[in-house]
Amino acid sequence: MMERGAAGAREAYDTFAAFYEAFNRGYMYERWTGRLLDKAEEAGLHGLRLLDVGCGTGLSFLPLLDRGWEVTGCDISPGMLEIAREKSGGRAQLHQADMAQLPAIGDFDLVWSVNDAVNYLGSNEELVSTLRGMKQNLSPQGVLLFDLNTADSFRTWMAEEVVVEDDERRFLWRGQTDPNTFRPGGFGEAICEVEGAPETRHFHRQRHFPEEEVLDALLAAGLHCWSVYGELDGELSQPLDEEDHSKAVFVAVRS
Ligand SMILES: C[S@@+](CC[C@H](N)C(=O)[O-])C[C@H]1O[C@@H](n2cnc3c(N)ncnc32)[C@H](O)[C@@H]1O
Repeated sequence: MMERGAAGAREAYDTFAAFYEAFNRGYMYERWTGRLLDKAEEAGLHGLRLLDVGCGTGLSFLPLLDRGWEVTGCDISPGMLEIAREKSGGRAQLHQADMAQLPAIGDFDLVWSVNDAVNYLGSNEELVSTLRGMKQNLSPQGVLLFDLNTADSFRTWMAEEVVVEDDERRFLWRGQTDPNTFRPGGFGEAICEVEGAPETRHFHRQRHFPEEEVLDALLAAGLHCWSVYGELDGELSQPLDEEDHSKAVFVAVRS
């Protein structure tokens, strides 16, 4: 049976770890993380200490390591962290942790969560406790930044079939969400696998978090929303349009 919540995310990513980077081979991490850093700087970012929440295999922090950042990462999946450990070669501190129950790890200039890790949370209560945990790891002048899949992504990416290929394998992403019945604040599901290798099959279950709900959650966590952006084709713009943008990006500071 498919696990739900943090256990489900862990199960999915422990399986996905073996081909996550091959599946994301076309993704421009250098460009995307650069765009996000620009927005964090506009919100007053100073310093080079990063906590990457839901860091996965490290793709979202490696560009910063290369720019001289001091990096700490955490993730629910030991399989993803094992790859992050190999790739960072001891240059990053890595912890296994559920973002909804983040321990106090340190004092960070930037706490971020990149590429829809937060969508794996199952409820608004979990979002608030995640944001509180992120806040307790923020330095007094620190900046918090995270992205979320928009309603449009749930009706497309989480609903459609996508095939990615490398030299040897075909990776199948089969969205299971019904675009006609999906409603903001609802759930989307997808099955992912390497074609012809049923042992690699795993399930993604994400929740959509509407902008209003995120703004309330930030407030409840004692954070001030600095700005909200929408992303399309790697570019950020305002205002966020849930029906047009692929991702929503939230930038916050302490209240
Ligand atoms: C789409 S991947 C993004 C990984 C990385 N940030 C990147 O940009 O490549 C989502 C990550 O979130 C992690 N994740 C999901 N739910 C989590 C939770 N409750 N606590 C910590 N990590 C979680 C998954 O294990 C996975 O590594």
